[in-house]
Amino acid sequence: MKKVYITRQIAEEALKLLRENANVTVHSGTLPPKKNEIIKNIRDAHGLVALLTDQIDAEIIDHGKQLTIIANVAVGYDNIDLEAATRKGIYVTNTPGVLDDATADLAFTILLAVARRIPEADSFVRSGQWKGWSPNLLLGSDLRDKTLGIIGLGRIGSEVAKRAKCFKMKIVYYQPQRDLEKETNIGVRYVSLEELLSISDFVSLHVPLTSETRSMISRRELNKMKKTAYLINTSRGQVVDEEALYEALTEGEIKGAALDVYDKEPISPDNPLLKLKNIVLTPHIGSATLETRTRMAVLAAENTVKALKNEIPSCIVNPQVLEHRKNKT
Ligand code: GLV
Repeated sequence: MKKVYITRQIAEEALKLLRENANVTVHSGTLPPKKNEIIKNIRDAHGLVALLTDQIDAEIIDHGKQLTIIANVAVGYDNIDLEAATRKGIYVTNTPGVLDDATADLAFTILLAVARRIPEADSFVRSGQWKGWSPNLLLGSDLRDKTLGIIGLGRIGSEVAKRAKCFKMKIVYYQPQRDLEKETNIGVRYVSLEELLSISDFVSLHVPLTSETRSMISRRELNKMKKTAYLINTSRGQVVDEEALYEALTEGEIKGAALDVYDKEPISPDNPLLKLKNIVLTPHIGSATLETRTRMAVLAAENTVKALKNEIPSCIVNPQVLEHRKNKT
């Protein structure tokens, strides 16, 4: 029977599917396995089911002599060396589509949380500071008639836009390519990045981490934003320059921020962002609902099983691998 290594305990439904089709080894801890542990386990494995915190680099891939698939249980795949996998004829797959709603819900939740100062309000009540109703207590910001600027109108960005419509917001978006169909269907307006930054009351990031998007929101971009604006990031931490964000938040260049992702995860205890009041912080839980995480794990398991059966899996993120595999056979 073929072998599969899974770097973390995933949903039972997905494990069942994998166990019916392979000899499965699951890393038991809640934290990622060490590099040498992954190497040891993939030496004779045909499938690797990985999570976004596993750095699957060329050295690891080199040890997977029998590996046919790396199935990432995430929509992002910046943790995998795609070129190295492609060279070895290994499929790399992700889990798009099944997490759009959950991630858009979270983006909107933290947007509302920072706009309405929910963490501050919660600790205000718990700490006994609430002495009575007051007309000026914890005033936040309306959403109605405000402009939401979406950077990256992909599947998740589009779901965020649909939610924003219900909150009576105006929506603009920026990405390198215009999407005329979505402009009509969702009712969003295309603008340049510069314009988006200068007119938006909320800027929400929905881009993958690539060499183009790394640090795309830095000092220059933050300075272009309104002093009353908020930055929301549920994409990847490295898209934002955290030092520049800290400065912008402390110097009043922007009003607030809400982050689900960080440059280094977990965030270091001495990260100065932790001390700020005008920021909402969540621990990379964009897709963290029971239903969504189950769907993601099942999709990764289905992709793995297909590859084990010499079928072409869905959600391949390195399509060049098809050519490579054809040449090998
Ligand atoms: C989460 O960040 C994902 O890429 O699925």
